[in-house]
Amino acid sequence: MHLTLKLSSLTLLWILLIGLGLGFGDALKMPFRVKDVLPVLPREVSWPVLNTLHSPVDLLPTYIGSLAPNNGSISWKGACFFQNEARVEFTGPGDRGIGGATIHLSTGAAHSWTCMDLYVFATPYRITWDYYFSAHDHTFKIESWEEPAEMEYVKQHGISVFLMPSGMLGTLLSLVDVLPLFSNTAWGQNSNLAFLKKRMGATFEKRPHPRTTINPDDVHSGDFLALSKIRGRWGGFETLEKWVTGAFAGHTAVCLKDELGNLWVGESGHENEKGEEIIAVIPWDEWWELTLKDDSNPQVALLPLHPEVRARFNNTAAWEYARKMSGKPYGYHNMIFSWIDTVADNYPPPLDAHLVISVMSMWTRVQPAYAANMWNEALNKRLGTEDLDLYGILAETERRGITFDQLLTIPEQDEWVYSDGKSTTCVAFILAMYKEAGVFGPISNSIQVTEFTIKDAYTLKIFEDNQTRLPSWCNSGDNKVSFCQILGEYQMELPQYNTLEPYANMNENCPSLPPNYERPVRC
Ligand SMILES: *[C@@H]1O[C@H](CO)[C@@H](O)[C@H](O)[C@H]1NC(C)=O
Ligand SMILES: *[C@@H]1O[C@H](CO)[C@@H](O)[C@H](O)[C@H]1NC(C)=O
Ligand SMILES: *[C@@H]1O[C@H](CO)[C@@H](O)[C@H](O)[C@H]1NC(C)=O
Repeated sequence: MHLTLKLSSLTLLWILLIGLGLGFGDALKMPFRVKDVLPVLPREVSWPVLNTLHSPVDLLPTYIGSLAPNNGSISWKGACFFQNEARVEFTGPGDRGIGGATIHLSTGAAHSWTCMDLYVFATPYRITWDYYFSAHDHTFKIESWEEPAEMEYVKQHGISVFLMPSGMLGTLLSLVDVLPLFSNTAWGQNSNLAFLKKRMGATFEKRPHPRTTINPDDVHSGDFLALSKIRGRWGGFETLEKWVTGAFAGHTAVCLKDELGNLWVGESGHENEKGEEIIAVIPWDEWWELTLKDDSNPQVALLPLHPEVRARFNNTAAWEYARKMSGKPYGYHNMIFSWIDTVADNYPPPLDAHLVISVMSMWTRVQPAYAANMWNEALNKRLGTEDLDLYGILAETERRGITFDQLLTIPEQDEWVYSDGKSTTCVAFILAMYKEAGVFGPISNSIQVTEFTIKDAYTLKIFEDNQTRLPSWCNSGDNKVSFCQILGEYQMELPQYNTLEPYANMNENCPSLPPNYERPVRC
């Protein structure tokens, strides 16, 4: 560890010396610049050098243009190649029958023979990338669209093309196993499983009975639903969230019984007819139907509350809270930032603040409405400013002499109210309801629900711990674990399930670093 660090800084020094040599010595007419060699260096070296050579704004991906069919070609000047041209062509049905595309890109007039240009091609459905060392006609194939909607999007808006700082190549190469996560195919699902096995030590044992029919009489208000999606866009998203936070589930919901004994599900992140993610309370049967149809292949577990906790669960207060929150938007602001706090604190490699901001800036371009919603507002809150866009935020950050990392680590405040109301993620919604219902007893007022990840919720010691009291249908007779998995072809694992006695101010100071995510006692 120490040695590697030393070596890196030596290499860094060497590079900087060469850089200076090139700057000053006319005799040294080597045909390359320090920036040119960055891509072939390990990212630990290339990023710091890039940093010292540029201001943060220069490190952002540059938007080149959008490639749409029947819209001619776009041409631009790159960092390495000065004459570039690109166009896109739709291709036949392909292996999935919905077609794909080929991007034709020609590069010319390189300023040196060692330089390269690195491009990202993005739609809301995919991010792919390629890099070019030689002046040539290149083709880049998108074998198949993710879904017909992607083709429609490209017809209307095109594929966005970004020129990346070439030093990012190392980062992108170390992210090769992240890109397939979002693919809604068997391959995409296998990538998710492989990623979680490798980076978190998950096992994904096959289960004999993938689906259980529950008896609603055995389910009670406050019982917790833990979901794990492993396929498509939500699968990929959850996989990254799991990796960053150390949780083995990616989504949560909560059971509620009304006075007539009907079973309902409260969920923050329920998709309504307009495709918006909102907080909703819907009948169990409807929720179950939707879950069975969900193409993200969810694995679902029911975590029954401990009888003593259930006994003090104030159902009236829980319903009041659920009704008050119903219809409000899902807490993107919170979610992104509970992640980013973690990223900024710990940087599970190869994630870092540069990658975060690169993704933000590309996303801003591809889905401006979402971006404003997801982070601009929250970043403005951190600066105490209003309505700055991402570039404005960066300029302001620089003006104040703080780094983007420092900006990201300013913690979220519970009292912040966003333009669409208070922000509540899936798990914050449930824990806030638990708080109202008296689950935490006398320490309720010292529990900050926005500090809890999904893992922090399922490790709370508030769930049933006696296997003989579990419902008969639980785990289809296979009582290896003390929660009830009711859906999914793979056995869900929830390490340290039901082990942590709640205490005042818990989770306000906890690091989480893969692969072990060790948690100091009483952090
Ligand atoms: C098509 O080209 C025109 C003119 O260059 C441009 O204004 C328009 O935005 C392009 N459309 C797409 C979908 O890229
Ligand atoms: C349960 O909550 C309701 C509404 O907040 C409250 O009026 C009632 O007194 C509570 N019941 C108990 C037993 O605390
Ligand atoms: C578990 O529950 C059963 C049935 O209620 C009870 O007889 C048994 O004593 C409990 N075991 C423990 C360890 O609490």
